[in-house]
Amino acid sequence: MSEQNPYGGAAAATDGPKRVRTRHFQNAKRDGIKITGLTSYDQLTARIFDEAGIDFLLVGDSAGNNVFGYETTLPVKVDDLIPLTRAVAGAVKRAFVVADMPFGSYENGPEDALHTAVRFMKETGAHAVKLEGGERSRKQIHRIVQAGIPVMAHIGYTPQSEHGLGGHVIQGRGDGITQLLADAQAVQDAGAFAVVLEMVPSEAARQVTEQLSIPTISVGAGPHTDGQLLVWTDWAGLTPGRIPKFVKQYANLSGILNDAAHAWRDDVANGVYPGPEHSYE
Ligand code: KIV
Repeated sequence: MSEQNPYGGAAAATDGPKRVRTRHFQNAKRDGIKITGLTSYDQLTARIFDEAGIDFLLVGDSAGNNVFGYETTLPVKVDDLIPLTRAVAGAVKRAFVVADMPFGSYENGPEDALHTAVRFMKETGAHAVKLEGGERSRKQIHRIVQAGIPVMAHIGYTPQSEHGLGGHVIQGRGDGITQLLADAQAVQDAGAFAVVLEMVPSEAARQVTEQLSIPTISVGAGPHTDGQLLVWTDWAGLTPGRIPKFVKQYANLSGILNDAAHAWRDDVANGVYPGPEHSYE
Protein backbone atom coordinates (compact mmCIF):
# COMPACT_ATOMS: atom_id res chain seq x y z
CA MET A 1 0.00 0.00 0.00
CA SER A 2 1.27 3.43 -0.86
CA GLU A 3 0.42 6.83 0.56
CA GLN A 4 0.86 8.10 -3.05
CA ASN A 5 -2.10 6.03 -4.23
CA PRO A 6 -4.70 7.25 -1.85
CA TYR A 7 -8.26 6.74 -0.90
CA GLY A 8 -11.57 5.57 -1.60
CA GLY A 9 -13.98 3.47 -3.40
CA ALA A 10 -13.88 -0.28 -3.80
CA ALA A 11 -10.11 -0.47 -4.07
CA ALA A 12 -9.49 1.35 -0.85
CA ALA A 13 -8.78 -1.58 1.45
CA THR A 14 -6.01 -2.89 -0.77
CA ASP A 15 -4.72 0.03 -2.83
CA GLY A 16 -5.42 3.04 -0.63
CA PRO A 17 -3.24 4.81 1.89
CA LYS A 18 -2.15 3.19 5.13
CA ARG A 19 -3.96 5.97 6.94
CA VAL A 20 -6.45 8.38 5.34
CA ARG A 21 -5.44 11.98 5.95
CA THR A 22 -6.90 15.36 5.03
CA ARG A 23 -4.72 15.55 1.92
CA HIS A 24 -6.39 12.37 0.62
CA PHE A 25 -9.76 14.13 0.76
CA GLN A 26 -8.28 16.95 -1.32
CA ASN A 27 -6.66 14.51 -3.76
CA ALA A 28 -9.96 12.66 -4.13
CA LYS A 29 -11.70 15.86 -5.22
CA ARG A 30 -8.90 16.68 -7.65
CA ASP A 31 -8.97 13.18 -9.17
CA GLY A 32 -12.75 12.74 -9.20
CA ILE A 33 -12.68 9.74 -6.83
CA LYS A 34 -15.70 9.53 -4.55
CA ILE A 35 -15.10 9.64 -0.78
CA THR A 36 -17.15 7.29 1.45
CA GLY A 37 -18.16 7.84 5.05
CA LEU A 38 -20.39 6.14 7.61
CA THR A 39 -21.24 7.00 11.15
CA SER A 40 -19.97 4.63 13.84
CA TYR A 41 -20.45 4.69 17.61
CA ASP A 42 -18.58 1.59 18.77
CA GLN A 43 -15.47 -0.50 18.16
CA LEU A 44 -17.24 -3.47 16.51
CA THR A 45 -18.75 -1.52 13.61
CA ALA A 46 -15.67 0.71 13.38
CA ARG A 47 -13.47 -2.34 12.75
CA ILE A 48 -15.85 -3.77 10.12
CA PHE A 49 -16.24 -0.47 8.24
CA ASP A 50 -12.51 0.21 8.43
CA GLU A 51 -11.66 -3.21 6.98
CA ALA A 52 -14.23 -2.64 4.22
CA GLY A 53 -12.28 0.46 3.15
CA ILE A 54 -14.75 3.16 4.19
CA ASP A 55 -12.65 6.34 4.06
CA PHE A 56 -13.92 8.12 7.14
CA LEU A 57 -16.03 7.35 10.19
CA LEU A 58 -18.07 10.05 11.86
CA VAL A 59 -18.84 9.60 15.53
CA GLY A 60 -21.95 11.67 15.06
CA ASP A 61 -24.15 13.28 17.66
CA SER A 62 -26.80 11.16 15.90
CA ALA A 63 -25.69 8.83 18.71
CA GLY A 64 -28.34 10.82 20.56
CA ASN A 65 -31.03 9.07 18.50
CA ASN A 66 -29.24 5.82 17.74
CA VAL A 67 -27.42 5.01 20.98
CA PHE A 68 -29.14 6.99 23.73
CA GLY A 69 -32.70 6.97 22.37
CA TYR A 70 -33.35 10.72 22.40
CA GLU A 71 -35.82 12.35 19.99
CA THR A 72 -33.23 14.86 18.79
CA THR A 73 -29.48 15.40 19.03
CA LEU A 74 -29.90 18.38 21.35
CA PRO A 75 -29.39 16.63 24.72
CA VAL A 76 -26.08 15.02 23.68
CA LYS A 77 -23.07 16.16 25.73
CA VAL A 78 -19.34 16.12 25.04
CA ASP A 79 -18.94 13.60 27.88
CA ASP A 80 -21.41 11.28 26.10
CA LEU A 81 -19.41 11.29 22.86
CA ILE A 82 -15.88 11.08 24.29
CA PRO A 83 -16.00 7.34 25.16
CA LEU A 84 -17.74 6.45 21.89
CA THR A 85 -15.17 8.38 19.87
CA ARG A 86 -12.32 6.77 21.79
CA ALA A 87 -13.72 3.32 20.99
CA VAL A 88 -14.01 4.09 17.28
CA ALA A 89 -10.61 5.78 16.99
CA GLY A 90 -8.98 2.90 18.86
CA ALA A 91 -10.44 0.30 16.49
CA VAL A 92 -9.44 1.66 13.08
CA LYS A 93 -6.20 1.26 11.19
CA ARG A 94 -6.94 3.19 8.03
CA ALA A 95 -10.14 5.24 8.29
CA PHE A 96 -10.09 8.94 9.19
CA VAL A 97 -12.11 9.48 12.38
CA VAL A 98 -14.18 12.64 12.80
CA ALA A 99 -15.59 13.62 16.20
CA ASP A 100 -18.87 15.53 16.13
CA MET A 101 -19.07 18.57 18.43
CA PRO A 102 -22.47 18.46 20.14
CA PHE A 103 -24.95 21.28 20.62
CA GLY A 104 -23.81 23.77 23.26
CA SER A 105 -20.13 22.92 22.99
CA TYR A 106 -19.02 25.61 20.51
CA GLU A 107 -21.75 28.25 19.94
CA ASN A 108 -20.50 30.46 22.76
CA GLY A 109 -17.45 31.54 20.77
CA PRO A 110 -14.11 30.54 19.31
CA GLU A 111 -12.38 29.83 22.65
CA ASP A 112 -15.18 27.51 23.77
CA ALA A 113 -15.05 25.77 20.42
CA LEU A 114 -11.30 25.31 20.69
CA HIS A 115 -11.64 23.95 24.22
CA THR A 116 -14.11 21.30 23.01
CA ALA A 117 -12.02 20.41 19.96
CA VAL A 118 -8.89 20.01 22.10
CA ARG A 119 -10.76 17.68 24.46
CA PHE A 120 -11.77 15.44 21.57
CA MET A 121 -8.25 15.37 20.14
CA LYS A 122 -6.54 14.74 23.50
CA GLU A 123 -9.01 12.31 25.03
CA THR A 124 -10.13 10.19 22.05
CA GLY A 125 -7.53 9.88 19.30
CA ALA A 126 -9.92 11.36 16.69
CA HIS A 127 -8.29 12.93 13.64
CA ALA A 128 -10.67 15.88 13.14
CA VAL A 129 -13.78 17.51 14.52
CA LYS A 130 -17.06 18.46 12.85
CA LEU A 131 -19.37 21.29 13.77
CA GLU A 132 -22.59 22.68 12.32
CA GLY A 133 -23.20 26.08 10.76
CA GLY A 134 -21.89 28.16 7.87
CA GLU A 135 -21.30 31.90 8.27
CA ARG A 136 -22.36 31.75 11.92
CA SER A 137 -19.60 29.24 12.77
CA ARG A 138 -16.84 30.89 10.72
CA LYS A 139 -14.88 32.25 13.70
CA GLN A 140 -15.07 28.95 15.57
CA ILE A 141 -13.77 27.00 12.56
CA HIS A 142 -10.94 29.48 12.03
CA ARG A 143 -9.82 29.30 15.68
CA ILE A 144 -9.80 25.48 15.73
CA VAL A 145 -7.93 25.24 12.41
CA GLN A 146 -5.39 27.81 13.68
CA ALA A 147 -4.61 25.39 16.51
CA GLY A 148 -3.77 22.66 13.99
CA ILE A 149 -7.01 20.67 14.26
CA PRO A 150 -8.76 19.77 10.98
CA VAL A 151 -12.42 20.79 10.80
CA MET A 152 -15.18 19.20 8.73
CA ALA A 153 -17.97 21.77 8.35
CA HIS A 154 -21.69 20.93 8.10
CA ILE A 155 -24.23 23.14 6.30
CA GLY A 156 -27.66 22.83 4.71
CA TYR A 157 -29.99 21.09 7.15
CA THR A 158 -28.26 21.16 10.53
CA PRO A 159 -30.06 18.89 13.04
CA GLN A 160 -28.89 20.85 16.10
CA SER A 161 -30.97 23.79 14.76
CA GLU A 162 -34.01 21.61 14.12
CA HIS A 163 -36.36 23.88 16.07
CA GLY A 164 -34.98 27.08 14.55
CA LEU A 165 -35.35 25.62 11.06
CA GLY A 166 -38.93 24.50 11.73
CA GLY A 167 -38.31 20.75 11.59
CA HIS A 168 -36.71 18.48 8.99
CA VAL A 169 -36.83 20.98 6.13
CA ILE A 170 -34.79 20.76 2.94
CA GLN A 171 -32.37 23.72 2.73
CA GLY A 172 -31.04 25.63 -0.28
CA ARG A 173 -34.27 25.53 -2.31
CA GLY A 174 -35.18 28.55 -4.48
CA ASP A 175 -33.61 31.70 -3.06
CA GLY A 176 -32.07 29.57 -0.30
CA ILE A 177 -29.24 28.77 -2.72
CA THR A 178 -27.75 32.22 -2.04
CA GLN A 179 -27.37 31.52 1.69
CA LEU A 180 -26.11 27.99 1.00
CA LEU A 181 -23.38 29.27 -1.33
CA ALA A 182 -22.45 31.99 1.19
CA ASP A 183 -22.24 29.40 3.99
CA ALA A 184 -20.12 27.10 1.83
CA GLN A 185 -17.71 29.89 0.95
CA ALA A 186 -17.50 31.01 4.59
CA VAL A 187 -16.48 27.58 5.91
CA GLN A 188 -13.94 27.12 3.15
CA ASP A 189 -12.44 30.57 3.81
CA ALA A 190 -12.32 29.76 7.53
CA GLY A 191 -10.13 26.74 6.77
CA ALA A 192 -12.43 23.69 6.83
CA PHE A 193 -10.90 20.76 4.91
CA ALA A 194 -14.32 19.38 3.80
CA VAL A 195 -17.98 20.25 4.17
CA VAL A 196 -21.05 18.09 4.73
CA LEU A 197 -24.16 19.18 2.79
CA GLU A 198 -27.23 17.73 4.45
CA MET A 199 -30.67 17.59 2.82
CA VAL A 200 -30.21 20.04 -0.03
CA PRO A 201 -31.43 19.65 -3.62
CA SER A 202 -28.98 17.90 -5.97
CA GLU A 203 -28.67 20.93 -8.22
CA ALA A 204 -27.78 23.20 -5.28
CA ALA A 205 -25.19 20.66 -4.12
CA ARG A 206 -23.73 20.57 -7.63
CA GLN A 207 -23.32 24.37 -7.60
CA VAL A 208 -21.64 24.31 -4.18
CA THR A 209 -19.34 21.48 -5.28
CA GLU A 210 -18.29 23.44 -8.37
CA GLN A 211 -17.75 26.65 -6.40
CA LEU A 212 -15.56 25.13 -3.68
CA SER A 213 -11.99 23.86 -3.83
CA ILE A 214 -12.57 21.67 -0.73
CA PRO A 215 -14.54 18.41 -1.06
CA THR A 216 -18.28 18.32 -0.43
CA ILE A 217 -19.85 15.32 1.30
CA SER A 218 -23.53 14.56 0.71
CA VAL A 219 -26.03 13.40 3.31
CA GLY A 220 -29.17 13.49 1.22
CA ALA A 221 -27.69 16.04 -1.20
CA GLY A 222 -27.66 13.89 -4.33
CA PRO A 223 -24.94 12.49 -6.56
CA HIS A 224 -22.94 15.58 -7.61
CA THR A 225 -20.85 15.95 -4.44
CA ASP A 226 -17.31 14.66 -3.91
CA GLY A 227 -18.39 12.06 -1.37
CA GLN A 228 -21.28 10.39 0.41
CA LEU A 229 -22.00 9.89 4.11
CA LEU A 230 -24.82 7.90 5.74
CA VAL A 231 -25.91 7.13 9.28
CA TRP A 232 -24.99 3.47 9.60
CA THR A 233 -28.07 2.38 11.56
CA ASP A 234 -30.36 3.69 8.78
CA TRP A 235 -28.17 2.23 6.02
CA ALA A 236 -28.19 -1.19 7.71
CA GLY A 237 -31.91 -1.25 8.39
CA LEU A 238 -31.83 -0.95 12.17
CA THR A 239 -34.28 1.97 12.28
CA PRO A 240 -37.38 0.75 10.39
CA GLY A 241 -40.11 3.34 10.19
CA ARG A 242 -37.73 6.29 10.39
CA ILE A 243 -35.34 5.78 7.48
CA PRO A 244 -35.07 9.02 5.46
CA LYS A 245 -35.99 8.98 1.74
CA PHE A 246 -32.39 9.61 0.68
CA VAL A 247 -31.04 6.46 2.37
CA LYS A 248 -30.55 3.28 0.38
CA GLN A 249 -30.86 0.39 2.80
CA TYR A 250 -27.96 -2.07 2.34
CA ALA A 251 -29.01 -4.66 4.93
CA ASN A 252 -31.93 -5.61 7.11
CA LEU A 253 -30.21 -6.03 10.45
CA SER A 254 -33.40 -5.38 12.34
CA GLY A 255 -35.03 -8.41 10.65
CA ILE A 256 -31.94 -10.58 11.11
CA LEU A 257 -31.65 -9.79 14.83
CA ASN A 258 -35.37 -10.23 15.33
CA ASP A 259 -35.28 -13.70 13.73
CA ALA A 260 -32.22 -14.63 15.80
CA ALA A 261 -33.84 -13.48 19.05
CA HIS A 262 -37.00 -15.48 18.32
CA ALA A 263 -35.02 -18.59 17.36
CA TRP A 264 -32.89 -18.41 20.52
CA ARG A 265 -35.86 -17.80 22.79
CA ASP A 266 -37.59 -20.87 21.26
CA ASP A 267 -34.46 -23.03 21.52
CA VAL A 268 -34.09 -22.21 25.22
CA ALA A 269 -37.79 -22.83 25.85
CA ASN A 270 -37.63 -26.20 24.02
CA GLY A 271 -34.39 -27.39 25.64
CA VAL A 272 -32.50 -27.27 22.32
CA TYR A 273 -30.00 -24.75 23.64
CA PRO A 274 -27.54 -25.35 25.20
CA GLY A 275 -26.66 -28.66 23.54
CA PRO A 276 -23.83 -30.95 24.60
CA GLU A 277 -21.43 -29.06 22.30
CA HIS A 278 -22.04 -25.87 24.33
CA SER A 279 -21.54 -27.48 27.73
CA TYR A 280 -18.38 -28.26 29.74
CA GLU A 281 -17.67 -31.88 30.73
O1 KIV B 1 -24.49 13.17 13.69
C1 KIV B 1 -24.51 12.78 12.51
O2 KIV B 1 -24.66 11.58 12.20
C2 KIV B 1 -24.35 13.79 11.48
C3 KIV B 1 -24.56 13.39 10.05
C4 KIV B 1 -25.99 13.18 9.76
C5 KIV B 1 -23.95 14.38 9.14
O3 KIV B 1 -24.07 14.90 11.77
